Amino acid sequence: MFIGTPLTANATRVMLLGAGELGKEVIIALQRLGVETIAVDRYPNAPGHQVAHRAHVIDMTDAAALRELVVRERPALIVPEIEAIATEALVDIEAEGLATVIPTARAARLTMDREGIRRLAAQELGLPVSRYAFADTLEQLEAGAAQVGFPCFVKPVMSSSGKGQSRVTDADGLQTAWRNAQEAGRVRGGRVIVEQQIDFDYEITQLTVRCRGEDGHIDTHFCEPIGHRQVRGDYVESWQPQAMTAAARRQARDIAGRVTGALGGCGIFGVELFVRGDEVWFSEVSPRPHDTGLVTLVTQALSQFELHARAILGLPVDVGLRSPGASAVIYGQTDGGPVVFAGIDHALQVPGSDLRLFGKPQAFARRRMGVALARAADVETARQHARDVAGRVRVQVATA
Ligand SMILES: Nc1ncnc2c1ncn2[C@@H]1O[C@H](COP(=O)(O)OP(=O)(O)O)[C@@H](O)[C@H]1O
Ligand SMILES: [Mg+2]
Repeated sequence: MFIGTPLTANATRVMLLGAGELGKEVIIALQRLGVETIAVDRYPNAPGHQVAHRAHVIDMTDAAALRELVVRERPALIVPEIEAIATEALVDIEAEGLATVIPTARAARLTMDREGIRRLAAQELGLPVSRYAFADTLEQLEAGAAQVGFPCFVKPVMSSSGKGQSRVTDADGLQTAWRNAQEAGRVRGGRVIVEQQIDFDYEITQLTVRCRGEDGHIDTHFCEPIGHRQVRGDYVESWQPQAMTAAARRQARDIAGRVTGALGGCGIFGVELFVRGDEVWFSEVSPRPHDTGLVTLVTQALSQFELHARAILGLPVDVGLRSPGASAVIYGQTDGGPVVFAGIDHALQVPGSDLRLFGKPQAFARRRMGVALARAADVETARQHARDVAGRVRVQVATA
């Protein structure tokens, strides 16, 4: 294992596919280790573009454009940061030995599709999941919903961040849910999954790191559980550690170990789980840093971004917790841009606080523009402080 010198012939080059706030932090972690970084996104001046050695704007769902860029840049590692990628191109690139895809091309392909990952988790691995059915038409959706029961969730099989997702309480709501899914799904006329609602006490992200140990074998490491709150399928706050019963904690790690083991490769995974008492259900998994894991920027010895950087480079990791803490999303609050952030001085008066402003060129009301962070002696205080910090930041459209 060696790391070369950036911008020379022996550089260790890593290409991020997706350069949002999560990719930006991964790039910063890689930069600190002397890695040459290439940030790719579909619009100019994305957060990660601003901190990488080189920036490219392409349509990452275009297999030919993606391949052309990889051939031109010749990265050693390709790190997907988002789901909407032409993953079939990644499968070819990996098969030809052109680059290593993190964690694997198959994992990227399976997890971008709710059907792929659900079939792996439920049918192949036998993990506990909500009752579910797939549907290609409204009629099939009606039959599927009757089978799983109400309330249920209807989601496009290709979507993220709650886009096109509906919670449906009775048969009358299915038509609207179907339409929502069709309009927002990445693939028009696309399939949906209908899932029984799990009445959980809380939900967690079990960050799980797979990395090569000294003996060459891959070890699995588990971070402390992250609790989070979602509104309309989008995360608004997270905290770490989430208190769990010993049985639920064991079960969470068991599920996370099995699903990440089946996906393979090295890197960090965000395993989303629902918990009620001692019972745990698998929901979904991202083979990459997780938005709720932004909290680890203040809670862990190594953030999820540093863990990802280390694991993909074949370096050892430390998943230890340093302090309880919390994160709260700073939304755009307004449409337009560029924006200015006011009240940051006041916000950072909150004890143990920090924040990240992502540098996105445009805002819209529900766009994630930054994140407030707080460390405290206990999670409750940290949550209060993080919310307080976020509340003090005002986003305004800049006047020319
Ligand atoms: N079957 C379900 N039961 C209960 N809550 C659910 C269910 N499916 C989704 N949710 C809620 O919606 C959120 C987003 O759903 P998720 O499947 O994770 O979509 P996304 O891929 O957009 O993150 C979950 O974190 C959870 O709060
Ligand atoms: Mg999710």
